[in-house]
Amino acid sequence: MKICHYLLSTLVVLSLTLFCCQSPSSSSKTSTQKVDSLLSVMTLEEKVGQLNFLVGDLFNTGPTVRTAESDKFDILIRDGKITGLFNVHGAAYTARLQKIAVEQSRLKIPLLFGADVIHGFKTVMPLSLAEASSWDMEAIELAARIAAEESTAAGINFTFAPMVDISRDARWGRVSEGAGEDPYLASCIAEARVNGFQGKALSEANTLAACIKHFAAYGAPIAGREYNTVDISERTLREIYLPPYKAGIDAGVATVMTAFNELNDIPASGNTYLLKDILRNEWDFNGMVVSDWQSIGEMIEHGYSADSMEAARQALETGVDMDMMSEIYIEQIPELVKTGKLDVALLDNAVRRVLELKYALGLFDNPYIYSDTLREKVTLRSTEHLTAARDIARKSIVLLKNEKQLLPLHSNYKKIAIIGPFGNNKEDMNGSWSFFGEAQHPVSVAEGLRTAMPNTSFIVAEGCNLYNDKTDKLQEAVKAALQSELVLLVVGESAPMHGEGASRADIGLPGIQQRLVEEIYKTGKPIVLLLVNGRPLAIEWVDQHIPAIVETWTLGSEAGNAIADVLTGEFNPSGKLPMSFPRHIGQVPIFYNHKNTGRPYLGDYSEPGAERVYRSRYRDVQNTPLYPFGYGLSYSTFTYTNMVLDKTSMKNNETITVTVTISNTSNRDGDEVVQLYIRDLAGSVTRPIKELKGFKKVHLKAKETSTVTFTIDKEMLSFYRADMSWGSEPGKFHVMAGGSSDTVLKQEITLLP
Ligand code: NOJ
Repeated sequence: MKICHYLLSTLVVLSLTLFCCQSPSSSSKTSTQKVDSLLSVMTLEEKVGQLNFLVGDLFNTGPTVRTAESDKFDILIRDGKITGLFNVHGAAYTARLQKIAVEQSRLKIPLLFGADVIHGFKTVMPLSLAEASSWDMEAIELAARIAAEESTAAGINFTFAPMVDISRDARWGRVSEGAGEDPYLASCIAEARVNGFQGKALSEANTLAACIKHFAAYGAPIAGREYNTVDISERTLREIYLPPYKAGIDAGVATVMTAFNELNDIPASGNTYLLKDILRNEWDFNGMVVSDWQSIGEMIEHGYSADSMEAARQALETGVDMDMMSEIYIEQIPELVKTGKLDVALLDNAVRRVLELKYALGLFDNPYIYSDTLREKVTLRSTEHLTAARDIARKSIVLLKNEKQLLPLHSNYKKIAIIGPFGNNKEDMNGSWSFFGEAQHPVSVAEGLRTAMPNTSFIVAEGCNLYNDKTDKLQEAVKAALQSELVLLVVGESAPMHGEGASRADIGLPGIQQRLVEEIYKTGKPIVLLLVNGRPLAIEWVDQHIPAIVETWTLGSEAGNAIADVLTGEFNPSGKLPMSFPRHIGQVPIFYNHKNTGRPYLGDYSEPGAERVYRSRYRDVQNTPLYPFGYGLSYSTFTYTNMVLDKTSMKNNETITVTVTISNTSNRDGDEVVQLYIRDLAGSVTRPIKELKGFKKVHLKAKETSTVTFTIDKEMLSFYRADMSWGSEPGKFHVMAGGSSDTVLKQEITLLP
């Protein structure tokens, strides 16, 4: 029997003397053998304790099952009834709890400390959807790396991120947490984020276990309503929703979280098809699976499990290793095993995966590896991290419209009005899912601009409150506009308006902000409108009337500085939308990779009557999005002039090289994301009108012309065929390229039999 005994001289940990006698990991045994020897001495209760994961006493994202008495966790830890805690943090605090586990519990098994480190820790990074707008995988990986550096110094060894749920429905509040609507882009981002969090080795002090969530298809609730039923075809599941989870697994993610939703009639936490057939068998995932918050217990509400006992059995049998917050495993599994209703081997498998994770994290070697008060002090919000956050933030900004050359702002403005609920706002810059960021820290838009434009005076007026319809602040805002040469209107959504539990049926500007925009418009002053939001908004009126529009999402700690960098031209915007913006809420779900239908609308409203009416269209709103997927402007102008293929046909084992010529026709250096799309013109099943298959971000100097090369291979032409086998079919394809999904260049290729 190998049991660890850890002695810690003081609560202030690490770099202090740490004694480890008979550490399982100090022997020559493999971690599997060590886990097995530990398992062989565990009581049934101790095993189940390793599957019980509870929220700490700092904050919750759902109903808690317990109140936070101060010594509650101490007792649970000492008694081996808990595998770890989540959403607690702080080097000293986590070390204190860890000390109880490794000194006072019978088996001295170290604790996991989990947390929703979604977009940054104390240095808050742009919202996940904002980062996705950068289409810059290095920047995205760096953001996750910095979040890992900071959170691991504060005791956290397990993050519930990245969230990789595709969503095509902007009503759903959690689109803010994902990477948008496209499976290819989102897969690249999933990989970058997993690499950023997990680094080279999980055992290092500055890396933590990542978690791909929420498995699966949580982003497709009917009508965009949070937690709602998901009912999609197997092909849609596999082609649209599953790829980012798979990309995370291929990148070596340590854990997976199940979803709240039911998928095609079976709740995700009891869904054999998802968790066994796909995750374990097809994808060969051997890591740990954790439930979402009480999602095991919620299988009763779903109408799937008759009672807690059945829910526990179903979830464990399906492969959910760890119970987050239901406390159903700890309550029901001992009885299930004792009465022979549950095979103890299944329980052992789940415990094994949890213990292996703890080994991989290095916790058996040094349980305090992540609770480093010294590192915590120098790492959190370090200058280096804030500088990186500013750069990532400005790369996340998307320029949606820029007429009358309003942007970049020239430095001669004497007076500018900053109007709107977000002009002087700090807290909402952190965005949803930023538990650890402090409200007073972010740089506001007004602060950023005042620093960047010291010779301009700024008048700030709130204009309206977000949460009521009172008009008492309008007049002051109009007055401020009239006194100024230019207005920066900063409108959008507060942080609680997006994220979990924040579906919105109307995705226009909340409160009376639309009225505010119209009142300011009437002043006749030039207006630059900045959006602060966590989802695509339906803002057609704004697009029709306001000459310059900048999508800033929420940009975190350095928001105001990053915005000032873009507005002043210090940084040339290069972001591209990862989600389509509708003209009208009635178009949602709207996404670029849709099917053609048998009666596609050709987009010409002047067509004769019947031709026009009996087409797939609305009578009152155009089909096209306001801003398409992949769209975003720059202060440079890019033109796509030529697409050359090295050949126009290929066999399955061959490739075609596509060369796209792009010119920066402006006098300003800039970055452009060159996007490659493919359409399969006819197949054993119908195919989308275009699918993103590649992209490259290039830097072009003023007046520079360059070429970008892509290689088309059979994988890019493959799909789930009529019999659900993956592969390609001979026939014709369109290859398209451009600076958005509204592509400009097109060629035809043939895949030969
Ligand atoms: C519920 C959320 O769905 C999940 O994403 C999160 O990780 C947990 N709460 C823990 O906070």
